[in-house]
Amino acid sequence: MARASKERAKQQAHGDGDVTQVRARGAAAGDDASGLEQRSENHQIRVRGLAKTFGEHEVLRGVDLDIERGHINVIIGGSGAGKSVMMKHLIGLLKPTAGHIYVDGEDIVPLDDYQLNRVRRKFGMLFQYAALFDSMTVEENVMFPLLEHRKKEMSRAQMKELVREKLQSLGLYNVEQKYPAELSGGMRKRVGLARAIITQPEVLFYDEPTTGLDPIATKNVDEMIAEISEQLGVTSVVISHDMASTFRIGHRVSMLYKGQIVASGSPSEIITNDHPQLREFLEHSGVNVATAEVRR
Ligand SMILES: Nc1ncnc2c1ncn2[C@@H]1O[C@H](COP(=O)(O)OP(=O)(O)O)[C@@H](O)[C@H]1O
Ligand SMILES: [Mg+2]
Repeated sequence: MARASKERAKQQAHGDGDVTQVRARGAAAGDDASGLEQRSENHQIRVRGLAKTFGEHEVLRGVDLDIERGHINVIIGGSGAGKSVMMKHLIGLLKPTAGHIYVDGEDIVPLDDYQLNRVRRKFGMLFQYAALFDSMTVEENVMFPLLEHRKKEMSRAQMKELVREKLQSLGLYNVEQKYPAELSGGMRKRVGLARAIITQPEVLFYDEPTTGLDPIATKNVDEMIAEISEQLGVTSVVISHDMASTFRIGHRVSMLYKGQIVASGSPSEIITNDHPQLREFLEHSGVNVATAEVRR
């Protein structure tokens, strides 16, 4: 059994009331104001005081966020709240105006592109609309990160075989030579997912993975995210505007509002959190919180 699912099984056995343990873990992990000890077994990524201004526009104003190792961490928030901008900082695509981002205890903010590449080897990403290269076949798309990061370790034949295996593990057969335009939306997402996990990352980032999908395809993608999390024991960071989906898959949910994290907790804690903007967001999401399917 994967480490993550073991831990989860343990949590389920303890029920939801295990708040003291969570607090104790937080304290032991160095949640003190000094910010000197940012390495933590439980938190793969720690964000402290992250700020980003574009010209006059303050998009992030001091984001503090812990990403739990081996769990599914969902970030919610209205359109334009800064979710994608925040995620781009976590993977080192943007440099902040102020603040720190610790990945396994190492602050990635001062790193140059060469050093960042080493950190990025831990990451896999699935962007909005899957962002496949239209002019490349499915095989070329999924192989792309291998060519970037594993060229010295693997032969082309080994890469092809691995691509085929990954596609099959996601239920895609004989699509290697097809182009993205020949596939359905749900299939394209799965190809994007195969590409994201092909290098066996420790952390998977998803930016609105279900945008543009119908409810059934959305549920399929949700199930895949949950399965990949369990099977590979990876840490997942998912940006979502879909509350039904958020509650279904999330172990931890955080809301970004006006450039700050204003609420954070398990889905059941989020459902009962009385932060006004969170309540408003939930009410407008169309999800009935009384009957919502909630991950425990
Ligand atoms: N490269 C950029 N230059 C200037 N403004 C940007 C840039 N990227 C994002 N923004 C602005 O930052 C705000 C947050 O954007 P984004 O993170 O994409 O929102 P969302 O929460 O919908 O993902 C928006 O107002 C957007 O226009
Ligand atoms: Mg976005």
